Amino acid sequence: MSQQRQILVTSALPYANGPIHLGHLLEYIQTDIWTRFQKSRGHQCTYVCADDAHGTAIMLRAEQEGITPQQLIDRVRAEHYADFQGFQVQFDHYHSTHSEENRTLSELIYTRLREQGHIASREIEQMYDPEKGLFLADRFIKGTCPKCGAEDQYGDNCEKCAATYTPAELINPRSAISGATPVMKKSEHFFFKLPDFATFLENWTQDGRLQEQIANKLKEWFSAGLQEWDISRDAPYFGFEIPDAPGKYFYVWLDAPIGYLASFKHLCEQRADLNFDDYWRADSEAEVYHFIGKDIVYFHALFWPAMLEGAGFRTPNSVFCHGFVTVNGAKMSKSRGTFIKARTYLDHLNPEALRYYFAAKLTSRVDDLDLNLDDFLQRVNSDLVGKLVNIASRCAGFVKKGGGQLAPMSAPELYQRFVEAGEAIAADYERREFGRALRQIMELADEANTWINDQAPWVLAKQEDQAAQVQAICSTGINLFRVLMVYLAPVLPEMADKTAQFLRLDKLDWESRHQPLENHAIEGFKPMMARIEASQIEALLAASREDIEQEAALKAGTNTSTDPSPLEAEPLAAEINFDDFIKVDLRVARIVQCEAVPKANKLLKLTLDLGGETRTVFSGIKSAYQPEDLEGKLTVMVANLAPRQMKFGLSEGMVLAAGDGEGIYLLEPHSGAQPGMRVV
Ligand code: MSP
Ligand code: ZN
Repeated sequence: MSQQRQILVTSALPYANGPIHLGHLLEYIQTDIWTRFQKSRGHQCTYVCADDAHGTAIMLRAEQEGITPQQLIDRVRAEHYADFQGFQVQFDHYHSTHSEENRTLSELIYTRLREQGHIASREIEQMYDPEKGLFLADRFIKGTCPKCGAEDQYGDNCEKCAATYTPAELINPRSAISGATPVMKKSEHFFFKLPDFATFLENWTQDGRLQEQIANKLKEWFSAGLQEWDISRDAPYFGFEIPDAPGKYFYVWLDAPIGYLASFKHLCEQRADLNFDDYWRADSEAEVYHFIGKDIVYFHALFWPAMLEGAGFRTPNSVFCHGFVTVNGAKMSKSRGTFIKARTYLDHLNPEALRYYFAAKLTSRVDDLDLNLDDFLQRVNSDLVGKLVNIASRCAGFVKKGGGQLAPMSAPELYQRFVEAGEAIAADYERREFGRALRQIMELADEANTWINDQAPWVLAKQEDQAAQVQAICSTGINLFRVLMVYLAPVLPEMADKTAQFLRLDKLDWESRHQPLENHAIEGFKPMMARIEASQIEALLAASREDIEQEAALKAGTNTSTDPSPLEAEPLAAEINFDDFIKVDLRVARIVQCEAVPKANKLLKLTLDLGGETRTVFSGIKSAYQPEDLEGKLTVMVANLAPRQMKFGLSEGMVLAAGDGEGIYLLEPHSGAQPGMRVV
């Protein structure tokens, strides 16, 4: 075997304020496959990650949930870790950026940079929320677009007309947190002097270590000029206080990549075979790779190598960047139900199906990757169930009947060709050309199936004198299957485990394939994977839509039920014009029937008569009314609200009620109004 390499691998650290979704998973699955492949090849490959636990968003989220940031990040880290485990992403260690190791390393790197003269400080002026006592990042400021007049746009760009601007240019700016009008306020900030590293970075990014698409993008950024980077934030902030600067905190992106070091450091303290300095001293010969998404290249290919260089550490060998996941050809969308959480997927589908599909479409490039759900179903069923598992299932029965022992193979030269194909497949895994690797493997699977068809052991089995030949053929088939599973094990670890049990093997590493299994007892065969049914995918999409409703209810300040509750106290909405108003079709409706929804603690189910037409509406007013008291009453409803599929049924509109978070008061027109009348 070639010389053992020392490799350290990371994935980007997911933010601790939201759940893992299928977009994230592309990255963790890609990294996991590459890591498992390296381990299978006998290298020392270590995969570390952590939750990215700092920043304003996490602080605000904890406040909103009424818990401390520490409670929030502990809970989310456990959820993230469980999600990753569910997808068989196997970290050697999963840490948190809010850890002692990270504090120490962040202070160390910062003070080294400061000693070398790479930190500047000066006063800057920013928008400030006087009610909350908080400086506002651009995304926490909303207002009217100065270009097109669209309301409710974020502080730096308009979603309507795509204009970019500064928050100061917004018309009627408001704090998205409190609604207060922001004021300008000065404070001292610290800056990392990135331009000090211009020459170093120009070489580092163009010396062939990075993907071509990324190197080219960086060239554009270079010609735009490198700017000093603001690395401090004022209290209140959830993060690490900057040494010698009370009330100033490291910006989350300063200590986030240092979290890679911190996680590895923590692991080194538990593992005798890993030494932190061997991996991170300036002249280290170990290899370091960061897997990231295309949105965070700037941080990983400019700030991060410059920080490491300036602080006397080695820099990464490369940054492996992937594109974004789309679902059915479009950005993951909450309203279409294609914003799919890892947990929701696990509730309905097999994680290895997604691992396989992502792998089949992954290249070494930065292009986006589409999860087309029809193609997904078809591809997984045809490749894994139809081709791969089929090889074993056609042969295993005969082996069992023949005594459960693999015999010497009838086609050792065929087996040998499968073994030799492993070098080209390995080269593709190494280059992260997973799609090409899997295509080669599936071609071999086709070949194996064709060969078994031609040999037709089921025909020979009818002739008594051919029993030995049947065993030799089927043993060949099982051995071919085993080689294919060696090649697929980085992608399909659980199927590989089941295969190892079936074949009574302790491992399926890359080298092990050289030795065929002959005169070797095996277990009875159980299929390692079931077909995906279209109904599972439909259920996944429906559940994802429900997740979004639940989240919207949470944002509106209600607690954990899936009931929509439009009745919490909310700041007054922005001004609208008559054209906006007239779009809402308000109608008088009679409540002809009203019943409580048993499993929902806020919902009543109303049957409404709109003057001939009947509608069903679910409304979060259970706490205020006895269902029978409402029957026969008139009220006002939004009649042209798009129907919403809820857990308990389809809601076809909304009734109007007043409320302040405590009382709820259904609106009722004066007597004489008739069902179906328009309300204006
Ligand atoms: N916390 C930062 C990373 C700090 S690394 C020192 C962050 N977190 S994230 O949760 O927003 O994203 C984590 C990773 O998931 C990033 O590499 C990001 O590019 C990737 N993805 C997030 N959404 C994605 C898709 N829809 N598709 C593919 N990857 C995506 O950024
Ligand atoms: Zn605009």
